[in-house]
Amino acid sequence: MKEYPSLALVTGATSGIGKALCHLLAEKGIALIASGRDVNLLQNLKNDLQSKVNVQLIVADLTKKDERQKLIEQIHTFAPDLVINNAGFGLYGDCLTYQTSEQMQILEVDGVALLEITLEAARSLLSKEKKGTIFNISSAAAFQIFPGMAVYAATKAFVNQFSQAFDKEMEVHGIRILTTCPGMVNTNFQARASHKNSDSAADIGVMTPEYVAESIWKQIESQKPLTIIDWKYHIMNCVSYLVPTSLIIRIIRKNILNRIQKRNLIKINEI
Ligand SMILES: NC(=O)c1ccc[n+]([C@@H]2O[C@H](COP(=O)([O-])OP(=O)(O)OC[C@H]3O[C@@H](n4cnc5c(N)ncnc54)[C@H](OP(=O)(O)O)[C@@H]3O)[C@@H](O)[C@H]2O)c1
Repeated sequence: MKEYPSLALVTGATSGIGKALCHLLAEKGIALIASGRDVNLLQNLKNDLQSKVNVQLIVADLTKKDERQKLIEQIHTFAPDLVINNAGFGLYGDCLTYQTSEQMQILEVDGVALLEITLEAARSLLSKEKKGTIFNISSAAAFQIFPGMAVYAATKAFVNQFSQAFDKEMEVHGIRILTTCPGMVNTNFQARASHKNSDSAADIGVMTPEYVAESIWKQIESQKPLTIIDWKYHIMNCVSYLVPTSLIIRIIRKNILNRIQKRNLIKINEI
């Protein structure tokens, strides 16, 4: 990347990695369109950053197509030259311990909204003959078969596959689609995934959102198509190819289910 982006759109800006990214980008003088569901948290973010850069807010629940449309309209109008698809969540527990609608919301936010925003952001840049970067936040879970977080990991695998292929289609137009796969980060993610029963601090190798935001910025500068954050997860990935898959899957399931209280399967007559 030769020059800094002038305007960045960040989804999921109200906490964790998204909030840390907004602070980092503001420090670099990059104007922001910050999106999230909680208007008060968005307003707090704006209050913190508006002395440094111009901050626009978009309140939108990304599970709702009509609310996503508000974001798409801003993207069409301003064609931001950095778009970070960060919003996302997962749920700890076997698939059938949740309602189907809850599982589908993961796909809606982490997959469908990301797909729609990526395509429309690229189309906007192309239409205005601008160069830019669309940055998709995936997960180290994307590389494994992940019982206990099956829908989340499968959705992140989709993000990796789609982003890398679309990057190759758009590179010639000066539009890059970059992806990162963080390991465990100390954010609200674990509390939401475990319904507030998480014990993430006990896990080895948990990163801060600020560290992840710095790594993401380095990747935006280098324009590397896909990264894993950080080296510990590279090693874990390599080791997983040397160990029988069935053992890896058993370890993953045990590790995830240890993070939550026992959940019951939901049968049709209980819906
Ligand atoms: N933390 C980790 O260990 C980890 C590891 C690998 C990848 N990631 C990925 O990193 C990204 C950021 O997560 P985080 O760790 O920073 O977690 P976080 O602190 O929970 O932040 C997630 C953000 O996404 C937003 N979001 C969730 N559902 C939404 C919806 N329906 N509509 C609009 N916004 C929504 C949240 O807003 P609300 O507060 O309103 O829900 C929040 O701003 C996610 O894509 C996650 O999958 C996280």
